Amino acid sequence: MEYDEVVRGRRSIRGYLPDPVPRALIEEIIELAMRSPSSMNTQPWRFHVVTGEPLDRIRAGNVERMTAGVPESREFRTGRPFEGVHRERQIGVAKQLFGAMGIARDDAARRQDWVLRGFRQFDAPVCVIITYDRALHGSDDAPFDCGAVATALVNAAWSRGLGAVINSQGIMQSPVVREHASIPADEVIMKAIALGWPDPDFPANAVVSERKPISEAAVFIGFTDG
Ligand SMILES: Cc1cc2nc3c(=O)[nH]c(=O)nc-3n(C[C@H](O)[C@H](O)[C@H](O)COP(=O)(O)O)c2cc1C
Repeated sequence: MEYDEVVRGRRSIRGYLPDPVPRALIEEIIELAMRSPSSMNTQPWRFHVVTGEPLDRIRAGNVERMTAGVPESREFRTGRPFEGVHRERQIGVAKQLFGAMGIARDDAARRQDWVLRGFRQFDAPVCVIITYDRALHGSDDAPFDCGAVATALVNAAWSRGLGAVINSQGIMQSPVVREHASIPADEVIMKAIALGWPDPDFPANAVVSERKPISEAAVFIGFTDG
């Protein structure tokens, strides 16, 4: 696939076929993603690629704790809840997804089921947990670098016909992930990526999220051409 085709065609995939993903293909994707730049070439990331029983235990543990009301325990700062334009965009994509799935505003049961889907890693056959070396904790560069490699990874996956969704839902109950993926204490759990073959019949997979226009996003200084 051409670069533009990958970047413009990729969307977050939240419904998967049960078919397994070959380990060699995942290695190929990770290797491509790791061509990402990083601060001073530190490459702070690690990938814990989980499937089968350990992943099922993570799904079950996440759902159990979230439904029991156990408070979130992410290992990084989340800031304040979104407001203003950020909140509008958050609601915007949620409306697109619920619209595609036919989930009504007042359908509490299906809305709850949608949320739990995220904690189940969207029932994907594979989940990649991205962590970084705790020795770098406190620097904003390491999470920045993990973001870069995560984006590269979902694009590399897309270029091979695989779908993915970067998500926080998978790591909100970090002790569950740490236990079942055997993540060492000297690594900070950053983010999860659900990965697998997209289910072509899952309506939300067709949603193309919006982007703000370049005029809002970029400021050009000192240019004389336009
Ligand atoms: C850091 C980060 C965290 C995210 N967390 C979630 C999540 O918990 N659940 C979810 O369904 N999508 C999650 N997403 C996916 C975003 O909703 C999605 O990327 C955004 O709406 C743009 O849509 P697109 O990926 O289809 O272009 C996350 C994405 C990023 C980059």
